[in-house]
Amino acid sequence: MQKILISGGNGFLGSHLCDKAINEGLSVTVVDDLSTSKEKQVPKDTHFIKKPVEKFDTKEKFDFVVHLAARPSPDDYTRNPLATIDSNDVGTRNMLEIAHRSNATFFYTSTSEVYGDPDVLPIPETYFGYVNPNGARSCYDESKRFSEALIKAYERQYGMDVRIERPFNVYGPRIREDGFYGRVIPRFIDQALRNKPITVYGDGKQTRSYLYFADWLEATWKFLKDPKAKGAVLNIGSNAEISVMSLAEKILNITKSRSRIAYLPPREEDPKRRAADISLARKILEWEPEVGLEEGLVKTIWWLREKNRL
Ligand SMILES: NC(=O)c1ccc[n+]([C@@H]2O[C@H](COP(=O)([O-])OP(=O)(O)OC[C@H]3O[C@@H](n4cnc5c(N)ncnc54)[C@H](O)[C@@H]3O)[C@@H](O)[C@H]2O)c1
Repeated sequence: MQKILISGGNGFLGSHLCDKAINEGLSVTVVDDLSTSKEKQVPKDTHFIKKPVEKFDTKEKFDFVVHLAARPSPDDYTRNPLATIDSNDVGTRNMLEIAHRSNATFFYTSTSEVYGDPDVLPIPETYFGYVNPNGARSCYDESKRFSEALIKAYERQYGMDVRIERPFNVYGPRIREDGFYGRVIPRFIDQALRNKPITVYGDGKQTRSYLYFADWLEATWKFLKDPKAKGAVLNIGSNAEISVMSLAEKILNITKSRSRIAYLPPREEDPKRRAADISLARKILEWEPEVGLEEGLVKTIWWLREKNRL
């Protein structure tokens, strides 16, 4: 039986990856400190270790080592900059060491934030980024960039099989909606379902592109397993750009909410536009996103409505 170690496996993306790995017959071990998870949501057959990844080590060997543990919500990471950096410097190094000793495939979820505030759209992997090394978001975007450098150093030094994914705004069931953790889609849905003000940072003209988790999972599983993807750095996202204001209006329409829009001051260094160039992922993984935004939103709204009885 093949073995997979997943850091951050209790989170939104990690828990879906655990389900997939178990369904595919792998033995799954998760290391997660539950710092950004609201509840335990790993499948029951998972070997769960509650620990920060930066303090984790094991003598066990694995076929796949997947490093997802991070604090990806801007409102949360700007409040916890040191903890955010920890999972991407020491945490990444610990997971790389385990992968190296195991002769495993190492898989990392970096982020579209490595591109900063880009002047190229949609953004190809060859764009090096426009990032402030010491700005409010640097604890996340620069430490993700450092992780990428560290991973490529292990590849160059030891010839390891490494794969780096840059996800662009993935959403869907199990994404956290509350407090500082709520990223834009679950936060808007939660606010709309409660008829509370929809909180938009700045003028809402900033754009993003959104990917439904099922499309992410399909791409990620292929990326993890396909020999053609060894050494690749791939954007996994959507190229359909939409403004935050249009997103809010879509959610208001679908939920038939009475909420109004409440404008908050703009977030420091919030990128103005973002959309993924996914030509490389299409070519290497023979993958195409299938779930449109409208369909994905309806499914996510249904899930949140059921979960919180709204
Ligand atoms: N969801 C997205 O749109 C998106 C976009 C870009 C990148 N990513 C990356 O994908 C990965 C997973 O994101 P997610 O959306 O599932 O986030 P999430 O917050 O739902 O999950 C992260 C998990 O990691 C755990 N964790 C955090 N810090 C830890 C630490 N130091 N030690 C151990 N566990 C820790 C949390 O408890 C949580 O269970 C992250 O690396 C994130 O940066 C996600």
